[in-house]
Amino acid sequence: MAQITILGAGSWGSALSHVLTENGHRVRIWSYSEDEVKRILASERRIEKIPGYYYDKSIEFSSDMQQAVLGSDLIVFAVPSVATRSTAEKLAPFYTKETGIVSVSKGIEEDTLFTQTQIIEDQIPGAVTSVLSGPSHAEEVIKDLPTVLVAGSTDQRLAEKVQDIFMNENFRVYTSTDVVGIEVGASLKNVIALAAGMSDGVGNGDNARAALITRGIREITAIAVAMGGHRDTLNGLAGIGDLIVTCSSVHSRNHQAGVLIGQGASYQEAMERVHMVVEGVYSAKAALALGKKYKVSMPIITEVNKVLFGGKDVACGVRDLMCRDKKAE
Ligand SMILES: NC(=O)c1ccc[n+]([C@@H]2O[C@H](COP(=O)([O-])OP(=O)(O)OC[C@H]3O[C@@H](n4cnc5c(N)ncnc54)[C@H](O)[C@@H]3O)[C@@H](O)[C@H]2O)c1
Repeated sequence: MAQITILGAGSWGSALSHVLTENGHRVRIWSYSEDEVKRILASERRIEKIPGYYYDKSIEFSSDMQQAVLGSDLIVFAVPSVATRSTAEKLAPFYTKETGIVSVSKGIEEDTLFTQTQIIEDQIPGAVTSVLSGPSHAEEVIKDLPTVLVAGSTDQRLAEKVQDIFMNENFRVYTSTDVVGIEVGASLKNVIALAAGMSDGVGNGDNARAALITRGIREITAIAVAMGGHRDTLNGLAGIGDLIVTCSSVHSRNHQAGVLIGQGASYQEAMERVHMVVEGVYSAKAALALGKKYKVSMPIITEVNKVLFGGKDVACGVRDLMCRDKKAE
């Protein structure tokens, strides 16, 4: 039995707390907001972000970082990716090197182009990090529906520790050493999911969505490989697996936001209406910048950026993708 701290009381941190308590671990959840902790405790431990579900009675809650991580064997970073740096900054004074960190957040930092574990390592020098990723919607994990992920770390022992702690009969975990491949797959799929949603929103069909998924994984793989990731990783759970679910599931907020944008909403309106973080919006500019930095052609990601930030009409974006120069596949 391990002592685990989850940073973030959103949908994913909450669903993972369910897996961990089912596995017999002691869990503490830290929230940046004292109000959030008070609301949870005052509502008989209702999970705000997954209606109809409650936290296990054994879970402790705190908005005090020092108290939250005291004696932890593993710290799970489950905050929205835009809050990873500020959260790592709060953790830094209390972090001890015996404690492994696993990031379950997805996104590339706009200013630095860092992945989530790179941000944590930048903010906490010497931190021992790993990542857990794959096709996994919180709404299904909380119901114990079968879910398969990959735990990645350059420290094989940490990847295996994460596998041991999380794995159960409904939650299968593979290991990998390709952290870059996993994190690039996890972050850029959200941008392609926005494109898939936009395409659905303007009234295109399954053919167009399948084409965006297939051509999208090419863009993601090209960037990941240029950054040192392995092609096999992008052919796996953290690449094509996560991309398929994010482009097609009713639970995908990036896809939902894309649909609204395809129907004429601005990205700000879409984010408000989806009511949760739409990380593809934040990762879109970073993805484009990565393409420029590594000289990788990214036609879909480029069009998504033009629609989100350049006022381009979605239908024109689709037409421009269809009318690119003739090429071999
Ligand atoms: N929801 C899923 O199914 C799912 C699955 C896999 C990965 N993820 C990833 O997990 C991460 C968290 O996603 P989520 O779905 O839990 O998001 P969410 O919108 O449900 O998270 C909101 C929570 O984040 C925390 N938070 C908000 N602002 C913060 C700040 N400034 N500082 C610290 N904490 C803050 C709060 O606890 C808040 O309740 C994202 O990177 C997401 O891509 C989500």
